[in-house]
Amino acid sequence: MIPHILLSVSHVSKAYRMDEVEFAALNDVTLRVSEGEFIAIIGPSGSGKSTLMHLIGCLDTPTIGTLSFDGVDISKISNRELAMVRNQKIGFVFQQFNLLRKTSALSNVELPLIYANMNAKERKVKAVEMLRKVGLSDKLSNFPSQLSGGQQQRVAIARALVTNPRILLADEPTGNLDSKSGREILDMFQDLNKSGHTIVLVTHDMNIAKEAKRIVQIKDGSILSDKKK
Ligand SMILES: Nc1ncnc2c1ncn2[C@@H]1O[C@H](COP(=O)(O)OP(=O)(O)OP(=O)(O)O)[C@@H](O)[C@H]1O
Ligand SMILES: [Mg+2]
Repeated sequence: MIPHILLSVSHVSKAYRMDEVEFAALNDVTLRVSEGEFIAIIGPSGSGKSTLMHLIGCLDTPTIGTLSFDGVDISKISNRELAMVRNQKIGFVFQQFNLLRKTSALSNVELPLIYANMNAKERKVKAVEMLRKVGLSDKLSNFPSQLSGGQQQRVAIARALVTNPRILLADEPTGNLDSKSGREILDMFQDLNKSGHTIVLVTHDMNIAKEAKRIVQIKDGSILSDKKK
């Protein structure tokens, strides 16, 4: 069977304009992601990895080129429509966890479901179930400051997955973790991919990139190589 193409990035460039000077953060990038893939995007600092993730994650739109997600052209839609695609189809995990500080683990995970207009009862059931899956059933009421780094990242993963997104995007998800917690998060990604989740992970570390089934190297805003294991 031909795998379903989930995401298609076609001849995409992204320029940032600062003080009349234009800087090309991405330059003619073409990339197709099929359902069920586990891809690592690797490259040095400033190579355009996060810029690419922001485009894929519907946080920004390209200067030139097209992106389509699940058959929908997301390169020209309004911010409102982008936010809808983001909420319904994309799970994002960041290096800094990005949890709400004065909010319990449970409420953090419920948040995307509030945006999705789910009722309170259903929301709680889903969030509790997701936190159980990431091994945090005993930490539902803890604030982020009352959790370890690895546990905070697991809350962030639960939050990313609670809407049942089509793709999980992770930008240096182990960058702020010690090696043991980092290993746990990578193991979790392996399990998620085995159970069918599509994952795109950004890293500058080849040892982490090797976890993925496909490695895309990026430098100065362009793809240098794209290799499947
Ligand atoms: N909002 C912005 N305005 C201007 N320039 C930007 C902006 N965002 C990123 N850039 C520039 O674009 C380039 C690519 O940045 P990007 O954040 O994508 O790099 P990266 O590969 O994620 O690096 P790192 O590994 O350090 O996170 C950098 O040179 C950066 O300075
Ligand atoms: Mg980055």
